[in-house]
Amino acid sequence: MFEFGDLLFRPVEKEDLKILHKWENDFELIMYSRSNPMNFVNMAQLEKQYEEWVKDEKQLHFIVELVDSKVAIGIALIRRGEWGNVKSADIGTYIGEKKYQGKGLGRQITVALLEMSFNQLNAERCEAWSVEYNHRAHKALETCGFRKAGVVRQAAFVNGRKWDGFHFDILRDEYFSVRMKLLKQTLGKRMNKYIEKHCTIESN
Ligand SMILES: CC(C)(COP(=O)(O)OP(=O)(O)OC[C@H]1O[C@@H](n2cnc3c(N)ncnc32)[C@H](O)[C@@H]1OP(=O)(O)O)[C@@H](O)C(=O)NCCC(=O)NCCS
Repeated sequence: MFEFGDLLFRPVEKEDLKILHKWENDFELIMYSRSNPMNFVNMAQLEKQYEEWVKDEKQLHFIVELVDSKVAIGIALIRRGEWGNVKSADIGTYIGEKKYQGKGLGRQITVALLEMSFNQLNAERCEAWSVEYNHRAHKALETCGFRKAGVVRQAAFVNGRKWDGFHFDILRDEYFSVRMKLLKQTLGKRMNKYIEKHCTIESN
């Protein structure tokens, strides 16, 4: 389990499929997170998908829980890859419990995923995909140091028209140049404790 600020990242258990069933069939949530809102899934399909996750060591799926209340608020994912001898981490998330959106938790999740990718999994680059209309996700990524690296034109069809897909990335060095600032912004007073536990780092 990985604790970061208000959040605990824990493995997805079979019992979590019930809450995933709710989130994965939420039209708006899936419209923003994956641009295929009509892709409803039943319990049998989710169980099959879960079995695939269990087998695939390259994909780390987490339930994101609030540390204090133990309420599950969403999911997060890191897909580890390697291309051209460079290790990468493709990250994704959604906050399924909508009352927890817009409170800065998306930013905390993103920094936590960057910490896991660069400080634990030794990735050289981190990537994220988002659809053109998802301005909040773009902002969350950009405030964590991601840059828009490319556009895949007309990659999604939602609500009667085509939309571009945006590709964001951040390199290891770029992350480490803003890391302390991001840790301070997201963890505040809890930063030193986090550093003690997780880092051997040069002081800033
Ligand atoms: C995207 C998501 C993870 C962001 O998490 P969040 O907790 O809601 O967002 P935050 O409160 O951390 O805000 C992130 C930034 O977006 C900004 N923001 C909020 N609403 C916005 C909007 N409509 N347009 C542009 N920026 C917006 C915030 O001001 C904040 O920027 P700041 O840190 O500079 O103030 C969350 O909203 C979510 O799960 N959305 C639905 C699914 C989804 O889109 N998943 C991501 C797929 S790539």
